[in-house]
Amino acid sequence: MTPAPFPAARMRRLRRTRALREMVQENGLCVRDLIWPVFICEGHKVQQPVASLPGVSRLSIDEMLRAAADAHALGIPAICLFPYTDPAQRTEDCAEAWNPENLTNRAIRALKADLPDLMVMTDIALDPYNANGHDGLVRDGVILNDETVEALVRQGLAQAEAGADILGPSDMMDGRIGALRLALESEGHSDVAILSYAAKFASGFYGPFRDAVGAAGRLVGDKATYQINPANTQEALACVARDLAEGADMVMVKPGMPYLDICRAVKDRFQRPTFAYQVSGEYAMLMAAAENGWLDGEKVMLESLMAFKRAGCDGVLSYFAPRVARALQG
Ligand code: PBG
Repeated sequence: MTPAPFPAARMRRLRRTRALREMVQENGLCVRDLIWPVFICEGHKVQQPVASLPGVSRLSIDEMLRAAADAHALGIPAICLFPYTDPAQRTEDCAEAWNPENLTNRAIRALKADLPDLMVMTDIALDPYNANGHDGLVRDGVILNDETVEALVRQGLAQAEAGADILGPSDMMDGRIGALRLALESEGHSDVAILSYAAKFASGFYGPFRDAVGAAGRLVGDKATYQINPANTQEALACVARDLAEGADMVMVKPGMPYLDICRAVKDRFQRPTFAYQVSGEYAMLMAAAENGWLDGEKVMLESLMAFKRAGCDGVLSYFAPRVARALQG
């Protein structure tokens, strides 16, 4: 509705004090909205800083458990695991991805034993295990779809078996959600949720993540034959529709900030739980500018996350999660 003409309406009346501003605030960011992505590695008492992600380290399982306990105490509801696989276990067939004893599956079990109420999300894709850094199996330079889906199902089942609460397929192969959902149902994991990376774009903003999981130097070519062209809205919406129809419980838009229009369109059209991933490059940009004194880091962190709520997201995956939780606490 249009406000009355000036001076009957003065928009500044409700901006005069903090209490008034907060009374009429339309959206809120809270700790329950956060999923914290964490990089894990082998070893004991290991914290390896990732140069392109200031403030983020790869953590051995023992260190990750301590960090997860802190996050849980702060009220963060879920953690998402990404493994840095030892180079010797990166192969063309990616078999380490479905090894029940791989790093991710050991980490899931340790988390569920220690912190059963903290939701554990995983990544389903082959890139941390692939000799060539791709999310799918590669033959003669071609990313194979259907063979990859079979591998992803084995990977997902192993994670469900280990106790994962939420599976996050980030691979962008066609048909993976339906195949996963069917396998979960038939193997007794009907309560495991799928948060599909449904609208995942072929983005330059994933660079620091690929450093963190050790895929950057290995990646041959790019991911344009499976991730969405950043120019396309309708294709992204079609992917979301398809994944929901195949049995995804929640959907994700990724990256986040450059794709807020997609977040809004997904929420409006499907009215299902919608998440955004504030990816590594978004985090790195803000951190780099803050470290240079060019931006107020705390302020842009909160503002960038509030933007997702305004765009209709139910929650956000963010490397800022523990810091945001502390900031929100007071
Ligand atoms: C790959 C995967 C990627 C991210 C999550 N899962 C990178 C890629 O597609 O190359 C990116 C997350 C980030 O940049 O923070 N399976």
